Amino acid sequence: MSVRPLIAGNWKMNGLGSESAAQLTDLVEQASEYKDVGCDILICPPALIVREMVTLTKGTNVQIGGQDCHMNVSGAHTGDISAEMLKDAGATYCIVGHSERRTDHLETNEVVKAKAEAAIAAGLIAIVCVGETLEERESGKTLSVISNQVKNSLPSDVTAQNTVVAYEPVWAIGTGKTPTPDDVAEVHAHIRSDLKSVMSDADGVRLLYGGSVKGSNAAELMALEHVNGGLVGGASLKAGDFWPIVETSI
Ligand code: PGA
Repeated sequence: MSVRPLIAGNWKMNGLGSESAAQLTDLVEQASEYKDVGCDILICPPALIVREMVTLTKGTNVQIGGQDCHMNVSGAHTGDISAEMLKDAGATYCIVGHSERRTDHLETNEVVKAKAEAAIAAGLIAIVCVGETLEERESGKTLSVISNQVKNSLPSDVTAQNTVVAYEPVWAIGTGKTPTPDDVAEVHAHIRSDLKSVMSDADGVRLLYGGSVKGSNAAELMALEHVNGGLVGGASLKAGDFWPIVETSI
């Protein structure tokens, strides 16, 4: 089954309005030179500038998403934002369960699942992140950790249309280290098989690889079986670094 890849940039807590707008404008310009870039392109900026970035990308082939959302629709949750707010601002996707949220905000699989369900209920596509720590990898627990996260973080109404799964080994994020292509292929095949046990359209779910993806390693990683795109942190901040990753789909 051929699945349209998704190349997603996660800007994390980086960038101020004017410089972010300049990078996004560059990206839009590059993407606009193609009738079809062969993938969906997504940028997840800080929540504060989502609406502005949506305005900048209106009518283009670049979409805008959130990096996190609250599990509730509204209410007394100081400092949080809801999936409905992201949707209202024009976002189309929301990342949930990124390892930085799991670590910094003590988010459990159950919390991640509730957030994914909130994102979907609001009409967004949830990008659910999973990944093992270095200690877990070195003690041979990678596949069981991933299975546990997939089983317990995915929304109960998961479909290939409403959910994307991102495999991001925690030790590869922002470190310049990546697993071998064989290791990535093994984990992605494992996730696909786990999905098959809980849903009928598992073959259509986009499985992203994330963790130190850059122009120089993207082609090899994106060509692997069961890798349907990437979730890119550092190399998504500058259009000139992100574009070569998008280009692997053209
Ligand atoms: P990185 O981050 O590309 O900077 O390693 C990836 C991510 O956290 O999504």
